[in-house]
Amino acid sequence: MADSETQLRNLKIEDCLEVAILHKKAFPQSSLTKLGIEAVRRYYVKQMEGLNECLALGAFKNQRLIGYIFAGVFHGGLTSFIIENRWFLIGRVLTHPWLFVSPVFREAIKLGLKKLRKGRQVSVQIKTSNNNKSPFVILAIAVEPKLQKKGVGGLLMISAEEYAIEQGFQKMLLTVNAANDKAIRFYKENGWQRTQKNYQTDLEMVKQLSGMGSEN
Ligand SMILES: CC(C)(COP(=O)(O)OP(=O)(O)OC[C@H]1O[C@@H](n2cnc3c(N)ncnc32)[C@H](O)[C@@H]1OP(=O)(O)O)[C@@H](O)C(=O)NCCC(=O)NCCS
Repeated sequence: MADSETQLRNLKIEDCLEVAILHKKAFPQSSLTKLGIEAVRRYYVKQMEGLNECLALGAFKNQRLIGYIFAGVFHGGLTSFIIENRWFLIGRVLTHPWLFVSPVFREAIKLGLKKLRKGRQVSVQIKTSNNNKSPFVILAIAVEPKLQKKGVGGLLMISAEEYAIEQGFQKMLLTVNAANDKAIRFYKENGWQRTQKNYQTDLEMVKQLSGMGSEN
C-alpha cells in the first residue's frame, strides 16, 4: 500500500508544469516528451479545459507530485491540442529536426497532420456530441519511477474507478502501448481485460464496473 504520507488531491492548471516534468520521467520515449516540457504542459492543460469532463488527480508526498491520473470524458483531446497549438508544435519540430530520426515520432507527426486535416470536421462533432453516451476513459496514469511498485498507481486507479462509479458509468476504457508490459500487467492486476480493438501500436483494455451504472 502507498504509505500514509501519500495524499491525493485534485490537480489545478498551475500543477501542469509538475505533471509535465513527471510525464517526462515516466514516459521518456513518448513523442510528446520529445517535443519538450512546454508541449507536454500544454497537452495536459488542454485536457483540463473546454468541454472535457476531466478528473485530474495528483498523488503528493511532502508536497511533491509523485503520481497522477487523468481520467473522464474527453472530446477530441489530442486533436484539439494539435489544432490549438499547431504553430507552437510546428516550431518545436523545425527547431528539433533530429526528432525525425525516430520512427515513433514520424508516426505521431503523420497522425497529427491527419488530425489537423480532419480538425474542422471534429470540432463540429465536439459541439454536437452527447456527453452521456461517451465512455469513461483513463487517458494517462504515471508514477515517479523511483516510487513505483509501492501502491501509488493502484491508489490513483481506485480513486478514478470510484469516481466513475459515482458518476454512473458501467465500464472504463483505456489504450496502452502493446509493448508496455509493465503497465499491461498493472492493469490486469487491477481487473482490466483486453478488448478485440488494436490501434497501430496500441491495444484497448476495458474494466467493467460493478456500480449503479446508468446508460454508459
Ligand atoms: C503503470 C504505473 C502507473 C503503475 O504504478 P505503480 O505505482 O508502480 O503501481 P502499483 O505500485 O500500485 O502496482 C505495481 C506493481 O507493484 C506491486 N506492488 C504494489 N504495492 C507493493 C508493495 N508495497 N510492495 C511490493 N510490490 C507492490 C503491485 O502488485 C503491482 O504488481 P505487478 O507488477 O504485478 O503489476 C507505473 O508503472 C508507471 O508510471 N509506469 C510508467 C508510465 C506508464 O506506462 N503508464 C501507463 C501508460 S498507459
